[in-house]
Amino acid sequence: MSAKIGFIGAGKMAEALIGGLIAKGIFTKDEIVACAPSKTTRDRVSSNYGIRMFEKAVQIVPEADLIVLAVKPRSVPGLFEDEGLEIGKGKTVISIIAGLTLAKMDSYVPDAKKIRVMPNHCCMVKEGAMGYACDPSVDGDDKKRIAKILSSVGLAEEVPEYLMDCVTGIAGSSPAFLYMVIDSMAEAGVLNGMPRDQAVRLAAQSMLGSAKMVLETGKHPEQLRDEVCSPGGTTIVGVKTLEDLGLRSAMANAVDATIAKSAEMSRE
Ligand SMILES: NC(=O)c1ccc[n+]([C@@H]2O[C@H](COP(=O)([O-])OP(=O)(O)OC[C@H]3O[C@@H](n4cnc5c(N)ncnc54)[C@H](OP(=O)(O)O)[C@@H]3O)[C@@H](O)[C@H]2O)c1
Repeated sequence: MSAKIGFIGAGKMAEALIGGLIAKGIFTKDEIVACAPSKTTRDRVSSNYGIRMFEKAVQIVPEADLIVLAVKPRSVPGLFEDEGLEIGKGKTVISIIAGLTLAKMDSYVPDAKKIRVMPNHCCMVKEGAMGYACDPSVDGDDKKRIAKILSSVGLAEEVPEYLMDCVTGIAGSSPAFLYMVIDSMAEAGVLNGMPRDQAVRLAAQSMLGSAKMVLETGKHPEQLRDEVCSPGGTTIVGVKTLEDLGLRSAMANAVDATIAKSAEMSRE
């Protein structure tokens, strides 16, 4: 065994993680292997990161003790049932596959330690937000190692598995909702004469800065909102308009509907 971590699947999310692990110095390129059926993907990933690539998932298992499952959900049965993939005792499996519960993982890899992760696509710029749940065999040292690996691409919070659908609503899917907010803000800029690209940049940076204010000051978002609203000023007019039009209720309903859909899909 020459590598430390092996990726089954080498698409967008696997690439984000591989890039983060190398950039943060957690693993060297020689300690990472990955596989993908298409030569185009193998050539791209080996040329981008200098890691060894394989065609088949079964070739990854002897190479590393830590295996990341990063294929699409529909590819999972084929891996274990058609390709004969076996990941046994002594291995740790991190799955980033949406909807693959620890119980379902147990049916495929009963003897391995298992971690279920729900990341979001902001991992691609190392600002991901993800939740992860561990099976009981994952101990303190494993947890430290997992936290370090996931933190290479963003914020990683351990949660009990029953909260994974919440993670999907609040982190997995929410970038789509926030892009809509950025776009709507920019639209108003265009309406008032600002070029669209400039308006998008200003709206996006305002969202990034606001998120940093919440995370870095530790203040409640309501407190920060109050700090921005001068009495009788411009901002309070906008805040009242959003309250009147039901922004809070719209966003809470959207996240709640996403959580419900995620729970429904996990049961299927
Ligand atoms: N993208 C997101 O924002 C996001 C967010 C949260 C969770 N996820 C989860 O992350 C997982 C990966 O998503 P992604 O966006 O990275 O998908 P993706 O870009 O389509 O990558 C999937 C990879 O799996 C490879 N693959 C397919 N069949 C395989 C097999 N039999 N053996 C080995 N590799 C195989 C593909 O190879 P080829 O390139 O050769 O086709 C591709 O490299 C999904 O399960 C998804 O639920 C994604």
